[in-house]
Amino acid sequence: MPVNRLLVILALLGGAARAGEPVSDAVALERLVRQDCGSCHGLTLKGGLGPDIRPQALRHYDTETLSEVVLDGIPGTAMPPWRPLLSESDAEWIADYLLNGEPE
Ligand code: HEC
Repeated sequence: MPVNRLLVILALLGGAARAGEPVSDAVALERLVRQDCGSCHGLTLKGGLGPDIRPQALRHYDTETLSEVVLDGIPGTAMPPWRPLLSESDAEWIADYLLNGEPE
């Protein structure tokens, strides 16, 4: 298949994956969780420098409390505040993703 046709198909697939997502940049947020959060919590989020943040490990949180942890960090620990980088709705998206998504 010619390369330019492949690129068109990839562009269409990218668009389809985004359609229907509640947050327009869900793809970017998911990448941030994997790469930035993953740099401490492990690529699969099962723990590293930071603890396991897969859904079963976060059952004691609701979305609101969890998004506050993301925004404000945990003072006195290596868990940084993300408020400079994320809006409240971004943090809620991430909290919801961590609680209900299937990061693996
Ligand atoms: C620089 C390393 C680092 C980065 C980057 C980081 N964390 Fe953390 N995180 C930690 C550490 C260390 C702790 C444990 C703090 C403690 O001792 O309570 C923690 C704790 C947490 C907790 C609390 C877990 C619990 O069981 O109470 C959550 C939730 C969390 N991080 C989510 C995130 C998310 C989401 C991101 C990305 C937006 C992120 N972290 C990025 C280091 C990091």
